Amino acid sequence: MAILLPGGAGYIGSHTAVELLNAGKEIIIIDNYSNSKPQVLEEIKQITGKDFKSYIMDYRDKEKLEKVFRENKIEAVINFAGYKAVGESIEKPLEYYDNNIMGAIALLEIMKKYEVNKFIFSSSATVYGEPEKIPITEDCRTGGTTNPYGNTKLFIEQILKDVYNADNTWDICILRYFNPVGAHESGKIGEEPNGIPNNLMPYIARVAVGQLEQLSVFGDDYDTPDGTGVRDYIHVVDLAKGHVCALEKLEKEQKGLYIYNLGTGTGYSVLDMVRAFEKATGKTVPYKIAPRRAGDIASCYADPTKAKQELGWEATKTLEDMCKDSWNYIQH
Ligand code: NAD
Ligand code: UD1
Repeated sequence: MAILLPGGAGYIGSHTAVELLNAGKEIIIIDNYSNSKPQVLEEIKQITGKDFKSYIMDYRDKEKLEKVFRENKIEAVINFAGYKAVGESIEKPLEYYDNNIMGAIALLEIMKKYEVNKFIFSSSATVYGEPEKIPITEDCRTGGTTNPYGNTKLFIEQILKDVYNADNTWDICILRYFNPVGAHESGKIGEEPNGIPNNLMPYIARVAVGQLEQLSVFGDDYDTPDGTGVRDYIHVVDLAKGHVCALEKLEKEQKGLYIYNLGTGTGYSVLDMVRAFEKATGKTVPYKIAPRRAGDIASCYADPTKAKQELGWEATKTLEDMCKDSWNYIQH
């Protein structure tokens, strides 16, 4: 029985593929390489010494999806496919709603037809909007997303709840990621944003390597210890391992719809990140204070207790690991 990974060649999918293979699972990757490269599959094979099947296809293409389900015995689907750039989603809302939501629906329809009921979904802390309380627990209010990307996460979560309510033979796990950073320690897979990065860690790495001149720190007047924004940065390998634990829960436990925060529980400010990166790499990261970025909140970090209690999962990698592995990857 195989685990199907739509978007498995991407940043989080490729790291999860490695952890699933290491845990002895069979996987199949489907990807259209709109934000990744086929070479990633070779890297995954090299890291793990294991082989797997893959298909080049759009996950919205139901005919091709059916072929995948006909040709293979699929046990579960972990969906990483979709678009994820917040700014771009404001420019291109229809593309975002189409790719993210229609893709998820296509998967669920074909899964239903082939009686595959285990679905794990890549959601985001963005569904909490302006958080009701910090640290954020899974029962905090959701909503108040400020862009189409965030809306797609919120809407897909709602679709999954409705699907489960209509038919509770589904077995669904919604994973709300906090801020994934870092790369595999081999330096073979990592995050390669197209163009100028929007996210903090890839931006810092590009400044350190000399490709960008300086970091703009978006606001130093937030109600946080040093005035800059505080986030819960989580090493992508820890995050990937969370998916293996979630899958094992769906394999073992009663059917249900489960929601977990995947974060470390610790918040770091923008300036903490700059200093940690400088310390881990010995490079200087020049920065200037710039105005706040629209849509940003002051602080966002997880209470990861539920994942620890129910999945037996917790993040173990340090901020130094996150910085070192990002740096190692960008130099490869
Ligand atoms: P990514 O862009 O690296 O990976 C997504 C993969 O999906 C890419 O390989 C891309 O080519 C593929 N893809 C996109 N549209 C497709 C389509 N129509 N058909 C087939 N393949 C398609 O992104 P990521 O960082 O690995 O994120 C994975 C998931 O996690 C996304 O749903 C994202 O929204 C979510 N997420 C990411 C973050 C983050 O900070 N990276 C945070 C929270 C949630
Ligand atoms: C952003 C998205 C979120 C998405 C997540 C992962 C917004 C409002 N939120 O989260 O929906 O799930 O990325 O893709 O875009 N910062 C700087 N300078 C920079 C870049 C960032 O100071 O050049 C600061 C930000 O103001 C923030 C922190 O660094 O305080 C982290 O930013 P970022 O990495 O973009 O993540 P989020 O904003 O948390």
